[in-house]
Order: sequence, then structure tokens, then C-alpha cells
Amino acid sequence: MENKKAADSRKVIVDVSDVYKSYYLGHEEVPILKGVNFQVFEGDFVAIVGPSGSGKSTLMNLLGCLDRPTSGVIVVNGQDVNQLDDNGLARLRGMEIGFIFQQYNLIPRLTAYENVMLPTYASKKENIDYPKKAKELLKMVGLEDRMRHKPSELSGGQSQRVAIARSLINAPSILLADEPTGNLDSKTSEEVMGYFRELNRSGATIIMITHNNELAVRTDRVITIHDGQITRDVPAVDFVQHIKEEQLTVMEHLAAHETGIR
Ligand SMILES: Nc1ncnc2c1ncn2[C@@H]1O[C@H](COP(=O)(O)OP(=O)(O)O)[C@@H](O)[C@H]1O
Ligand SMILES: [Mg+2]
Repeated sequence: MENKKAADSRKVIVDVSDVYKSYYLGHEEVPILKGVNFQVFEGDFVAIVGPSGSGKSTLMNLLGCLDRPTSGVIVVNGQDVNQLDDNGLARLRGMEIGFIFQQYNLIPRLTAYENVMLPTYASKKENIDYPKKAKELLKMVGLEDRMRHKPSELSGGQSQRVAIARSLINAPSILLADEPTGNLDSKTSEEVMGYFRELNRSGATIIMITHNNELAVRTDRVITIHDGQITRDVPAVDFVQHIKEEQLTVMEHLAAHETGIR
């Protein structure tokens, strides 16, 4: 186990303090996130799990500066998102955040290469040779011979690999992935997970929402969300133990129930 001091000396990339988020249906407030607190350190690989509708994507959209909290503070790479106007928020998003979605979100009429280049039209960093980098990234995800293909000519796994390359083009300080393997078969999910593991090993900070406990336990840390609140935030090894215990409890209940019937 890491000691507290060592953990504290790492750079905080995402700092979430007492965050609430509501949606409004007409005049009715619908609270979705209800006091969320956590920090993500540079180089972390974090999984977020929880039932459908628990607020995972809502949280991700806040972390990704696509939306603002109703109250509370979110600091991304040293910048308090509440202090930024819309342009500032868009800039932070473009420069520091890479997004990967379940539906890939590629532009159909653009080639794989053009899709990877797309974020650079809105936000550019100095000292990056983007055409060279786009090709390198597509090569990294094994698509050097598919650069001129359009999304309709790519499989789901290939499309997601293009999306991974696109998410990395601006050298973001954090990668956010919302159920990146949700549309993929288990073999292709493994492949995508392999890329995330590799990226993390080379220093990338990754937050990944997933429904798949087997993938979640292969990150470093698993945050569980229920009904807009964090109910568990543990190292992945402990999460494995929790799942085993929960499964045992369910089996004991079933066994007791069966015995009762007889
Ligand atoms: N733009 C929105 N307007 C109103 N309600 C929303 C909106 N987006 C999400 N919700 C509601 O917020 C809740 C949490 O949604 P979401 O964050 O997508 O959950 P998850 O990703 O965990 O499945 C759901 O009940 C959903 O219907
Ligand atoms: Mg979701």
C-alpha cells in the first residue's frame, strides 16, 4: 500500500469538492449529483461504476467541462471551472481533456485521419506537429493502413481505436472514457482495455466509466456511485474482495431461500 505522504505528493489533476448537479424539468428541480467529493492524481487509472441512471455520465460531463455544477467546486489541472467563462471552459476542454464515448462519436463523412485531426481545428498547442502526430497515433492503435477509411468502412473496435487516437491528439492531461467498451464484444473490449493500460503505464491519467466489473478491477481504483453519491472509493484489489463478498451474500440468501422452501 502506498503511504499517505507519497500519495499526497503527487499532482492533483482533478479535484471535486461537494459537487451537486440538478436538472430542471420545467420548474421542478431534479437532483442528480448530491455532494460528490474525490481527487484524481496524475497517473491514476480510475474506474467509475454504478447502476444505470446513477449519475456517472453527468459527473463525467462536469469533469470534461461540457457542463457546470449547480454548486460545488471542480478544479481541472489547476483551473477552477467556476471561474472560467464559456470560452475559457471550451479552451480548457480542448487543451487538457481527451474524450472517448460509447458510440465513438466519429464524424461519418471524415476519414479516420481527418477525425483524429478534428480537435486541432478548435484548439492547438504549440510545438506539436499535428499531421505527424495523427499518423503516429493511428499507427499506435494499429490503423496505419486504415487512415483514409471513413467510419462506415471500419468495425466497432477500429472506430473506437480511431476515437482513442483522436482523444490523444492534443496531448491532454486527462482522458475521460464513458463506457468505451459498451458497444464492443469481449475480445475487442480487451483490446481497448489493453490500450488504456498501456497509455496509463506511459503516464496518462484515465477516468473510465464502465458496467464491466472485470474491466473495472483492472484499473487502479474503483469509485462506485449510487443515486448521485459516492458509496465506495477503493483500490481495485479491494473492490475485487467486495464483489466476492457481495456475490457470496447473494448466494447465501438464495441458499437460505431455497432451504426455506423445502
Ligand atoms: N440533460 C438532462 N436533463 C434532464 N435529466 C437528465 C439529463 N441528463 C441526464 N438526466 C437524468 O439524470 C440521471 C442520471 O443520468 P446519467 O448521468 O446519464 O446516468 P448514468 O450515466 O449513470 O447512467 C438520469 O435519471 C437521467 O435521466
Ligand atoms: Mg451514462
